[in-house]
Amino acid sequence: MSAELFRVQVPSDMVPAVAIEALPPTVVETRDLDTWYRDFQALRKINFSAAKGRVTAIIGPSGCGKSTLLRAINRMNDLVPGYRASGEILLDGAPAPTDPAGVIALRRRVGMLFQRPNPFPMSIFDNVAYGLRLERRRSKRDLDEPVQRALLRAGLWDEVKDRLERSALGLSGGQQQRLCLARSLAVEPEVILMDEPTSSLDPVATLRVEELMRDFRDEVTIVIVTHHMQQAASVSDVTAFMLMGEGRAGELVEINTTRELFNRPQDRRTEDYITGRFG
Ligand SMILES: Nc1ncnc2c1ncn2[C@@H]1O[C@H](COP(=O)(O)OP(=O)(O)OP(=O)(O)O)[C@@H](O)[C@H]1O
Ligand SMILES: [Mg+2]
Repeated sequence: MSAELFRVQVPSDMVPAVAIEALPPTVVETRDLDTWYRDFQALRKINFSAAKGRVTAIIGPSGCGKSTLLRAINRMNDLVPGYRASGEILLDGAPAPTDPAGVIALRRRVGMLFQRPNPFPMSIFDNVAYGLRLERRRSKRDLDEPVQRALLRAGLWDEVKDRLERSALGLSGGQQQRLCLARSLAVEPEVILMDEPTSSLDPVATLRVEELMRDFRDEVTIVIVTHHMQQAASVSDVTAFMLMGEGRAGELVEINTTRELFNRPQDRRTEDYITGRFG
């Protein structure tokens, strides 16, 4: 069967055709990032970058280190016993902090959304206000406005405005994921890292989240890991393709504008993956 039958279509109306050189400056960048879980090397020499205010998708087969890369950037792996990393992680061109206070500040600038929505067992309002309270904003007046704004931006306000004091755990999965998005947005992060954010959602909830990603264009930099190439093709400006190389270590095979990567992959392995020959 012709490989063309499998080729993912990049919708022409959604993602403007720009050359990779014409993208805004880089906000997050890794240089020769290596990571290990004890003696297993999970990532090898990863040179990844995400342009400001754009959506960058990371695709690749299971186990190639996509989540490890996001977790390395957000320093979520630091507490994993036996984990270590070398190379550089830059945020706005400066080395990302590694000390405990710096990491807290980093997480405010770089939010994260997981595969399964993880609302805290508290009210809808308190979930969204959580990060703001950590910044010592306490009064109701200080919180009401930003909480409403975050819920509006996450497309959830109308559905929850009459039940802000109810438990977040009573929301549907799709609503919970948008609540987690609102919780991230409330502290006005520069970047949100999303690890398969729609994989536990139904198609309608998935579309809502994809629409929101497009709404954030220019405002928030998004890095999204996805197994759905059609999702990468329709929501992202840039796509990075990762693969396990020697010793099963994850490598970044190719990063380019989404249009180029899907229409004219430079590497044979990218071509094979996006046309469904493996993975
Ligand atoms: N906490 C850990 N301890 C040891 N090994 C780990 C740990 N987390 C991940 N790994 C290993 O690192 C490699 C990369 O895992 P990772 O979860 O980053 O892959 P992935 O690309 O996100 O896969 P998937 O698409 O299935 O989510 C895998 O071989 C995995 O077994
Ligand atoms: Mg993963």
